[in-house]
Amino acid sequence: MSERKATLQISGQEAVEFPIMVGTHGNDVIDIRSLGGKTGLFTYDSGFLSTASCQSKVTYIDGDKGELLYRGYPIEQLAEQCNFLEVAYLLKNGELPNKAEKEAFEENIKNHTMVHDQITRFFNGFRRDAHPMAVMVGVVGALSAFYHHGEDYSKPEVRRIAFNRIIAKMPTIVAMTYKYSIGQPFMYPRNDLDYTANFMQMMFGTPCEAYKPNPVLVRALDIIFTLHADHEQNASTSTVRLAGSSGANPFATIAAGIACLWGPAHGGANEACLNMLEEIGDVSKVPEYIARAKDKNDSFKLMGFGHRVYKNFDPRAKLMRKVCYDVLTELGLENDRLFKLAMELEKIALEDPYFVEKKLYPNVDFYSGIVQKALGIPTDMFTCIFALARTVGWMTQWEEMITDPEYKIGRPRQLYIGAARRDVAPLEKR
Ligand code: SDX
Repeated sequence: MSERKATLQISGQEAVEFPIMVGTHGNDVIDIRSLGGKTGLFTYDSGFLSTASCQSKVTYIDGDKGELLYRGYPIEQLAEQCNFLEVAYLLKNGELPNKAEKEAFEENIKNHTMVHDQITRFFNGFRRDAHPMAVMVGVVGALSAFYHHGEDYSKPEVRRIAFNRIIAKMPTIVAMTYKYSIGQPFMYPRNDLDYTANFMQMMFGTPCEAYKPNPVLVRALDIIFTLHADHEQNASTSTVRLAGSSGANPFATIAAGIACLWGPAHGGANEACLNMLEEIGDVSKVPEYIARAKDKNDSFKLMGFGHRVYKNFDPRAKLMRKVCYDVLTELGLENDRLFKLAMELEKIALEDPYFVEKKLYPNVDFYSGIVQKALGIPTDMFTCIFALARTVGWMTQWEEMITDPEYKIGRPRQLYIGAARRDVAPLEKR
């Protein structure tokens, strides 16, 4: 806590002071927890534009600089020098693993990749053409039925096992979701492959022949997982924190996060962005769509552009553009129509005064759809990939929330603008 104070002068009332809390980086915060008691007033911040919901040591974002740090490490360095499981270890434990810790963690994850065989039956309740995110909400939520036998999550070992279980099983469940949608048999995990190669074999392998992962494509997808692992108090992470604050089962809490991530304003933007690029179709039509994005009477938004926090380039978008280029080059698709269209759209938008004034830059979702499509991942599976990776952040933030000494159930208040108190009239008089 700093010595700085915030003084609030409300007409007709004594001035009241509130402490200012200072963080490592970024905005300091006014601790207004005593506001209601001291003044009888609440703050109003629909959409939480200026509200810190918690203290956290996990991720820091500087929207003006376009900076993203996981436990203090820049995302650029992590994406280049680490793999996704090292980043998962870092996010959960606060430090990067040494060689022995990395090997032990990878081994432990390998031993949790299978799901209970009865999980396969949940899929049969869905139509084959159900949206994969609807299936993910259902199946991941169902995991809570398999792991709800009085686990005491106040114990670090119980939390560690839950973390490893869900991180290990998400690739299996995402791959099962895809296989179910195309009518192919589920593929079992293979312990001779690393985490991301194993995911790709469960997605694209078949029992008919041995799957040979392409190391360039595996590395690209592994970086995509790292870029999506955590992102401070975004909508789905806040959903997980709020759902988990009641003491709900962590697997059910993750299912709530998946449900929130599905929305096109959030994790569903990569699917929406690719569909938008297909709709635009050709560079010649870009000006028409830029005009629509600027038209207040048109609900169209340039998907993959803009961000609540980033008012500069999303650093993940820059890394994603590089991954996209590397994958397309490896596959001989460097002249990919959509990639060239996306780069042209990015160039035109970044020069347009509307986008410059509103500080609308490409976000993580702008290129991720193109590269995932090139990897063979169908459009409606993009957000499942996002959920697979973000489960690391969700579980990390859930653990930080339930181990916070100040932890209590989240219960916002409101400004009531409904009907004034009134009495019920008898039926014949209504
Ligand atoms: C993710 O929070 C996170 O960290 C999320 C995420 C994560 O990793 O968890 O980063 C992942 O969700 C990335 C964002 C993906 N969504 C999209 O790409 C969808 C398109 N973007 C927009 O829907 C929008 O930019 C949001 C939802 C991302 C941010 O919205 P805000 O901060 O609430 O801002 P806003 O909608 O109030 O926009 C401010 C202005 C508005 O104009 P005015 O009312 O001020 O005149 O900018 C305009 C908006 O109309 N605007 C856009 C625009 N985004 C904002 N105009 C055209 N195209 C856009 N994409």
